Amino acid sequence: MSTWTAARIAEYTTSLLRDARLILVSNRAPYSHRWHRAAPLEPRATTPVVAGTTGWKVGWLRRLPAQVSRWFQGPQALRWSQPAGGLTSALDPVMQACHGTWVAWGSGSADRQAVDARDHVPVPPHNPQYTLRCVWLSEAQVGGFYDGFANSALWPLCHLNLDRTVFTPLHWRHYQEVNAHFATVVAEECGGKRALVWLQDYHLALCPALLRQRLPDLAIMHFWHVPWPPWELYRACPWRRELLEGLLGNDLLGFHLGQYCHNFLECAERVLGASVDYKAGVVEYEGRETWVRPFPISIDYAWWTRLARGRRVARQIVRRRAHPDLAFPILGLGVDRLDYTKGIVHRLAAIERFLEKYPAYQGRFGFVQIAVPSRTQIEDYRRLKAQVEGAVERINARFGTETAKPIHYRYEHLEPAELVVYYRMADFAMVTSLHDGMNLVAKEFVASQVEQRGVLICSEFAGAAEALDNALLINPYDTERVADTLKHAIEMSREEKAHRMARLQTHLAEHNIYKWLADIFTTIEDIQGASPVAALAAVAAPTDSAAALSDA
Ligand code: F6P
Repeated sequence: MSTWTAARIAEYTTSLLRDARLILVSNRAPYSHRWHRAAPLEPRATTPVVAGTTGWKVGWLRRLPAQVSRWFQGPQALRWSQPAGGLTSALDPVMQACHGTWVAWGSGSADRQAVDARDHVPVPPHNPQYTLRCVWLSEAQVGGFYDGFANSALWPLCHLNLDRTVFTPLHWRHYQEVNAHFATVVAEECGGKRALVWLQDYHLALCPALLRQRLPDLAIMHFWHVPWPPWELYRACPWRRELLEGLLGNDLLGFHLGQYCHNFLECAERVLGASVDYKAGVVEYEGRETWVRPFPISIDYAWWTRLARGRRVARQIVRRRAHPDLAFPILGLGVDRLDYTKGIVHRLAAIERFLEKYPAYQGRFGFVQIAVPSRTQIEDYRRLKAQVEGAVERINARFGTETAKPIHYRYEHLEPAELVVYYRMADFAMVTSLHDGMNLVAKEFVASQVEQRGVLICSEFAGAAEALDNALLINPYDTERVADTLKHAIEMSREEKAHRMARLQTHLAEHNIYKWLADIFTTIEDIQGASPVAALAAVAAPTDSAAALSDA
């Protein structure tokens, strides 16, 4: 079986969809825009103009470092960037291959200026391949829906953190309202034409059923990017019925792992009394069937490898190594959104223990921690930042010198072109998630290790661990053993490192993001039986409200 590539998936999805459009829906948008003070050398114009940015090779442009200026207004330039997080980085190449429309919250401060009268903007900005349709949320909705129900109730619930959950009726109302708003916009985008709607993640659990009410024959699938909790925990949610009923509006519901599928099926059975076939992975509820299947998400492996092989990267490594904090003979790496599920505090504790227990490594060992700002309006996240930074300071005070500190901490979002330099130069990477749907950093590190000299240390509680069994698997709560695993990783022979890395790479080269997509599309095709998706996706006669929308 040959490897799935962007070109092959484009061909496959085109034949599958025929004249139907792919409409992808998520909370987070793949590109956002903001005004930025123009640098003195940048050209300026008083009226908006499109800056010429073409002429580069498309392969490189696909995910070029962000912030290419497009328009200028007085001394301000409109710039775009790509957000942190697995969802958008995984799905952007997919949409570039399949085209179609991506519906998402326009959260950038200049997104309203970037869109046209229909709230559409072609993306990627430098080389448009598909359409982004922005959905606008009020400040109150952002607070109640995004910071509130999605990230202070569902996020901790799905990550087994009951103590952090905040369930309030106001947040729930906003969640319902925003889901209804998304459903309206998606129905409008379908516009009475053939479409396959693909919803993403825990922000939009109610959307499938709302869409199904409007357009009963629409093909709808959903991928849930975080774990699904076991019934014993899930039952704590006051709106446990409504969320499940929302998701059962889907034809196909995907999770990363079989375990999450099982948890979901059990919840549907116990909470709703739905009829569940665990073996087949099918729920029957109120006369409809939803297929529930595992699809472990991945990365554009070839793209990362190419990026890592770039000549620029080798030069950057030499330059970075000149920094005193990065000049240690042994260098480890952690890259995470600053989130309590990532186990960053546990990781730092293990590093501290390692330096204490194996003092011969003091002065020879450094660790780069890149912490990407995330959900900064939420108190738990702010508290975590203080905790992480406190631990970094403590370790540096204990084991650092005037000139060099063992922990090199960066609190910022780095683009792939910069990230890949760290991935390639690190002797090992640590993923210490306490619970994590997948974790794409683990996969990006493997793809970037073109010299096969690094070791992946991966939490057994990250979804990625299931397939990456040539990593050194750890329990992040077991500080003593993690410290010993660090030593083991460092002292491992060159041959073993290369052997393990080669096996990880072979796996990921095949199980890439395009295979993930192909598996999902093949399944939706199976669900539709003999008829192609395009035929089944034909929307039924729109309901009054949907008809009114498409007329508008
Ligand atoms: O992986 C879960 C997720 O919510 C993704 O949807 C997203 O890529 C990432 O975390 C980042 O979160 P946010 O969109 O809240 O910045």
